Amino acid sequence: METVITVVGGTKGGSGKSTVATNLAILLAAAGLDVLLVDADDQETATDFTNLRESARPGGAGYTCVALTGPAVRTGVQRLAPKYQHVVIDTGGRDTVSQRAALSVCSAYLVPFAPRSFDVWTLDKVSDLVEEARTVNPDLRAFAFINKADPRGNENAEAAELLRSRPALTFIPTGLGSRKAFGAAAASGLGVTELRPQDPKASDEMRALYGYLFDISKTPGRDQVGA
Ligand SMILES: Nc1ncnc2c1ncn2[C@@H]1O[C@H](COP(=O)(O)OP(=O)(O)O)[C@@H](O)[C@H]1O
Ligand SMILES: [Mg+2]
Repeated sequence: METVITVVGGTKGGSGKSTVATNLAILLAAAGLDVLLVDADDQETATDFTNLRESARPGGAGYTCVALTGPAVRTGVQRLAPKYQHVVIDTGGRDTVSQRAALSVCSAYLVPFAPRSFDVWTLDKVSDLVEEARTVNPDLRAFAFINKADPRGNENAEAAELLRSRPALTFIPTGLGSRKAFGAAAASGLGVTELRPQDPKASDEMRALYGYLFDISKTPGRDQVGA
């Protein structure tokens, strides 16, 4: 089976890219898959997280993490991908050479948006990036979802409406709420599903996102990345 390469990106810092990339890598590894996490952000959040995770867990991180930057994101991933079943690439929050290089080799592009106007305003830019990437990577699938959803108010619905309006991206209806467990887990080198005591809502949300993207058995017929 061909390696599934997923890029978590966007042009906004703090939208939750590293949180989502690390949690997806952890869930894929927990499912017994061979996973490479590529840190393509020069802030190296995914690398720092993985180092913490390695020291916090006797069994190690459960996946392999490498840092790549610039055009090497493309060439490095092309070289390493055949050795793994899944590659997850965490990018920085700007339109960089690294992010474009990642987009040129991936199967899927996953973009979290916080439901506030400044974040959603980057949608046009992201939409353009996807269309441009498809000129070299025509099979690229792109997904948008809401991260840090507000517990109340109209902002979630308004953001969802906007995200649904862009034909370049498929809107994933199962987003993540704004929950302390995501930060608490990261601070201990854990995935949110591994945190104890568990936040069941945060865990369910992350599993639903994972299931939407990768778990063919749970949602038959869905247009999935791993299918
Ligand atoms: N769903 C969420 N709920 C609460 N905090 C979150 C959530 N997602 C991310 N965060 C927090 O927001 C901050 C930025 O997240 P991060 O994943 O580093 O974003 P990015 O990689 O896009 O810059 C971190 O402190 C992280 O713990
Ligand atoms: Mg990050």
